[in-house]
Amino acid sequence: MMEQKRVLSGMRPTGRFHLGNYMGAFQNWVALQNEYKCFYMVADWHALTTAYEDPTNIEDNIIQMLIDWLSLGLDPEKSTIFIQSDVKEHAELHLLFSMIIPVSWLERCPTYKDQINQLQEKNIATYGFLGYPCLQAADILIYKADFVPVGEDQLPHLELTREVARRFNYLYGKIFPEPQALLTKESNLIGIDGRKMSKSYGNTISFSDSAEEIRHKVRMMITDPQRIKKNDPGNPEVCTVFSYQKIFNNNLLEEIEMECKAGQIGCVDCKKRLAETMLSFVEPIREKRNYYERNTDVIFDIINEGAKKAREIARDTLEEVRKVMKISYRW
Ligand code: TRP
Ligand code: SF4
Repeated sequence: MMEQKRVLSGMRPTGRFHLGNYMGAFQNWVALQNEYKCFYMVADWHALTTAYEDPTNIEDNIIQMLIDWLSLGLDPEKSTIFIQSDVKEHAELHLLFSMIIPVSWLERCPTYKDQINQLQEKNIATYGFLGYPCLQAADILIYKADFVPVGEDQLPHLELTREVARRFNYLYGKIFPEPQALLTKESNLIGIDGRKMSKSYGNTISFSDSAEEIRHKVRMMITDPQRIKKNDPGNPEVCTVFSYQKIFNNNLLEEIEMECKAGQIGCVDCKKRLAETMLSFVEPIREKRNYYERNTDVIFDIINEGAKKAREIARDTLEEVRKVMKISYRW
């Protein structure tokens, strides 16, 4: 049998998921488990590049993110789930790559330039932050990943990863494949106020929200502002509730659209329908979250096991790399 292709991806631990995080990249991660040999990594060192001045929340964020991953369908039987800093070989490969990556490649990276401008209040003009994509290249190439599911914002890092692989292979002989991005489309779930769903806008729905909170948030959603009376004809295309119905009540969509346009369904009832379907989606997940919150030892077992599996592969790659870079002392 041909060996299964490898997928690697990572996320910085930034706390709990909201529904938008799930509907975007993460849903894709879950699906890929059935087709590929997947490695999913909590990028805690990457989190430190911007949070080093106040790392208080990193540990808790790691746990919360792992709880989300497991509750939402990452399966440790199928995928290797681990924490970056548990596999020290990433740091070594980062160091060795730093010997061959021209500084100009890092400086011209658009994510670097953007963040330096955007995060003016944080002092991220550091060596570590400049090297962010070098570490990411190490994360990916250490597993010789074929595919990397990421959002569009990460494409420059993937490009740089391929350039590093190419330069390494040119200098020392072919060790690394050139990984391809599997572009995940952005979540089409907007926030309850109709803007992009984002923690900084305070318009999210989260998996830890209670049933009452979810009902309340749905009631707050903006509908077609032209609709004043219950039997006024509505325009679903301008309605936040309808964009949610597309995701949660897709099988009833034509009916809802027709009833709305004909003024046969009121927004209050339409919202009730949505809220109940959302609850039946969120509640089992919330229960799983509660289970993991109460049984963190299960999570530690999973990530220890994950680190062990990841390390085995990382160790082999490093042996190859040290050898060709003449740092193995095995003469
Ligand atoms: N930089 C990625 C992000 O901000 C996280 C990340 C770290 C990553 N290492 C990775 C993604 C390796 C893909 C592959 O989301
Ligand atoms: Fe939106 Fe539903 Fe009201 Fe139509 S009936 S405007 S889809 S909430």
